[in-house]
Amino acid sequence: MTLQGVKFTGVGAATPSQCLTNAHLSALVDTSDEWIQSRTGIQERHVAAPEQRLVDLASEAAGAALQMAGLEPTAVDLLILATSTPDDLFGTACLVQTRIGAVNAVAFDLTAACSGFLFALVTAAQYLRTGAYRSALVIGGDILSRWVDWGDRRTCILFGDGAGAMVLQSSDVDQLLSFELRSDGRLNEHLTLAFAGTPQTLGENLAIAQGGFAPIAMNGREVYRFAVTQVPEVIEKALHRAGCTVEEIDWLVLHQANQRILDAVAERLGIPQEKVISNVGQCGNTSAASIPLALAAPIQQGHIQSGDLIATAGFGAGLTWGAALFRWQ
Ligand code: ACO
Repeated sequence: MTLQGVKFTGVGAATPSQCLTNAHLSALVDTSDEWIQSRTGIQERHVAAPEQRLVDLASEAAGAALQMAGLEPTAVDLLILATSTPDDLFGTACLVQTRIGAVNAVAFDLTAACSGFLFALVTAAQYLRTGAYRSALVIGGDILSRWVDWGDRRTCILFGDGAGAMVLQSSDVDQLLSFELRSDGRLNEHLTLAFAGTPQTLGENLAIAQGGFAPIAMNGREVYRFAVTQVPEVIEKALHRAGCTVEEIDWLVLHQANQRILDAVAERLGIPQEKVISNVGQCGNTSAASIPLALAAPIQQGHIQSGDLIATAGFGAGLTWGAALFRWQ
C-alpha cells in the first residue's frame, strides 16, 4: 500500500498564564475597552512573562498534539516551527526538538508571519506526499509582546502570545484536499518588524550595521482592506481546486486577527456565524500560533469531529496569505 496522502491526527495549544486585559491597556495608552472591543472584538490576550521563552510554549503545544495523535516523539521525522519571534535568530526548532525528545526529526524554522502556520502545514504535507517522511509536527508560535511598541495604541491592543501544533501522518487517503498560497512583497511596508541597525565603523572605509529590530509598524487600514478582499478569494480558489462548494465547509478557521475581519470574510463567502471558529476575544492576534490555537479547543471538546471539512486561511506580513481545505482525521 502506498501512503502518499496526509491525515491530521493531533492538535495542541499553549498560552502563557499572564492575562493582559483592555483595562490594563487603557492604563498604558489612550484607549478604552469599548474602542478595542468594537473595532477588534478583543477583550484580553495572554502575554509571556520575562523568563518565558518560545521554546516553552512551542514544546507544551507540541507535547499535547503528539499525545492526541498517540505518537511517540521519537517517531517524528520532521519538525517545522513557524515563527517570527524565535528565541534565537539562528532558529528555535532544534531547541523544541531536544526539549520534547524528537531525536530522530529534522527540525527547522519557517517564517511567514501570521501565515506561517499555514505555509508550514503545506510544506510538511509535501514531504509526506513524496514519501520522504511519515510523520511531521508542525508548530506555530510567537511572542510578539517582545516586539510591540507598548506606547502605540494602534498596534499594542492587537497582539497576544501563544503556540499551537498539529501532527500530520502519512495515509492512504489524502485529507489535505487543496491549498493556495500567495505572497506580494510590494505590500511589505504595510506591516513590518524590521531590522534597525546602528552603523558601526570597523576600520577605514569599513562599516557594518549592528543592533536589533524596530517594533511592529502597521498600516491597519491597508491590512484590513487587503485581508477582507484577498482571503475570500484564496478560499474560493482552494474550494475550486478541491471541487467543493462553500456549503460543504463545516468550519471556517481564519487567522485570528480581528473579529471584524472574521465576520467580513464569512459574510463575503456566505458562511453562517455558527460555522466560524473564533477565540480572538480571549487570545488576540497570536500570529503564527493563531490557527492551531483556535482549532485546539473545539477539537478537544468534540465540536469539530472526525471527517469535518475545515477551510482555513492565514494572512499577514510579507505580505503573505493563503488557504487550505482539509478534513480533520
Ligand atoms: N484606541 C482609541 N483610538 C484609537 C486606537 C485605540 N487603540 N487606535 C487607533 N485609534 C484612533 C486613531 O488614532 C484614529 O484617530 P484619528 O481619526 O483621530 O486619527 C481612529 O482611531 C481611527 O483609526 P483607524 O486606524 O482608522 O482605525 P480602524 O477602524 O481602521 O481600526 C484596526 C484599527 C483595528 C487596527 C483595524 O485597522 C484593523 O483591524 N486592521 C487590520 C489589522 C490586522 O489584522 N493586523 C494584523 C495582521 S496579521 C500579522 O501579520 C501580524
